[in-house]
Amino acid sequence: MKTLRMGAGEVPALGQGTWNMGERAAHRRDEVRALQLGLDLGLTLIDTAEMYGEGGAEEVVGAAIAGRRDDAYIVSKVYPHNASYDGVREACERSLRRLNIDSIDLYLLHWQGHHPLAETFDGFEALKQAGKIKAWGVSNFDLENMEEALTYGAPATNQVLYNLMKRGIEFDLLPWARQRGMPVMAYSPLETQGREQAALLGHPGLKAVAAAHGVTPAQIALAWVLHQDGVIAIPKAVDPVHLRANRAAADIALSADDLAALDQAFPPPRRRRALDMR
Ligand SMILES: NC(=O)c1ccc[n+]([C@@H]2O[C@H](COP(=O)([O-])OP(=O)(O)OC[C@H]3O[C@@H](n4cnc5c(N)ncnc54)[C@H](OP(=O)(O)O)[C@@H]3O)[C@@H](O)[C@H]2O)c1
Repeated sequence: MKTLRMGAGEVPALGQGTWNMGERAAHRRDEVRALQLGLDLGLTLIDTAEMYGEGGAEEVVGAAIAGRRDDAYIVSKVYPHNASYDGVREACERSLRRLNIDSIDLYLLHWQGHHPLAETFDGFEALKQAGKIKAWGVSNFDLENMEEALTYGAPATNQVLYNLMKRGIEFDLLPWARQRGMPVMAYSPLETQGREQAALLGHPGLKAVAAAHGVTPAQIALAWVLHQDGVIAIPKAVDPVHLRANRAAADIALSADDLAALDQAFPPPRRRRALDMR
C-alpha cells in the first residue's frame, strides 16, 4: 500500500476513522474488533477525537490497540474550546488515559475556535517536548487559516472533508499543501452516512466505473481519493465486509479514462469555494 510521511512516522495512505464509535455499549465489541481487523489488514493509522462519543471512541481505540501499541499510528483531536495553553495539555492527558498509551502520534486542533493559534501551538509544542505527542496539526483549516497557522508554527497536516462530491480543496488548499510537502487527511471519503452518501454511492457515473472494474461504487470512491497525491483517506467502517472492501480499494488502479469519467460525473472546482465542513 502507498505510504506517506506524516509527523514523526510513515503511515499508510488508507487509515481508519472512528466517528460514531464509542457511543453505545452494545456496539463496543464490534467496534473494537473492526479496528483490530483494520490493523491486521494494514490500516494502521487510526483517527479519533475527544469529541467522538465524548471520549467513548478513544476508549474503543484504547481497547483495540491494547497489547499492540506499536502496530498503530494514533491521531486524536482537541476540541477548540479546550485549546488554550493549559487546556490542550489537560485535554491531552485525558485522551492519553482513555487511549491507555503514553504518547499520541499526531494531535490535531479539531477546528479553529476562539483561543489564539499561537497559544494552542505553544501548548502543542510543550506536549511534544514532554513526549506526550510526537507531532501536531490542524483540521478544517481553509487556506487563510493555514497561512495564519504557518506564522505560528508548522502543522504536520490539515484534516479536511474531501471526496468526489466535495472537491473544493483541489482549487487552492490541496495544491498549496502539496507545494509544502504537507499531507492532507481526507475525512468522510465516502460522504459519511445517510442521504449524501446515497447520492454519492448511487450516482450513475460512479456506478458505471465500478461496474467496469467489477467492484462497488464505494471502492471506486475510495480508490479515487487514494489516487490523489499527498492525500490520506480515513474511512470509518465497522462492518468487516466494508473493511476488507476498503483495503482492496487501495489496490485498484484507475485509468485515465476512469478519471475522465469521474471528472465528468463529479466536476472539479473552477473557482475558489468556502471549505466544506460538517
Ligand atoms: N476532522 C473532522 O472534523 C472530521 C469530520 C468528520 C469525520 N472525521 C473523521 O473521518 C472519518 C471518516 O469520516 P465519516 O465517518 O464521516 O465518513 P465515511 O468514512 O466517509 O463513511 C462512513 C460510513 O460509510 C460506511 N462504509 C465504510 N466502508 C464502506 C464500504 N466499503 N461500502 C459501503 N459503505 C461503507 C460505514 O459503514 P459501517 O460503519 O457500517 O461499516 C459508515 O456508515 C471519521 O470516522 C472521523 O474519524 C473527521
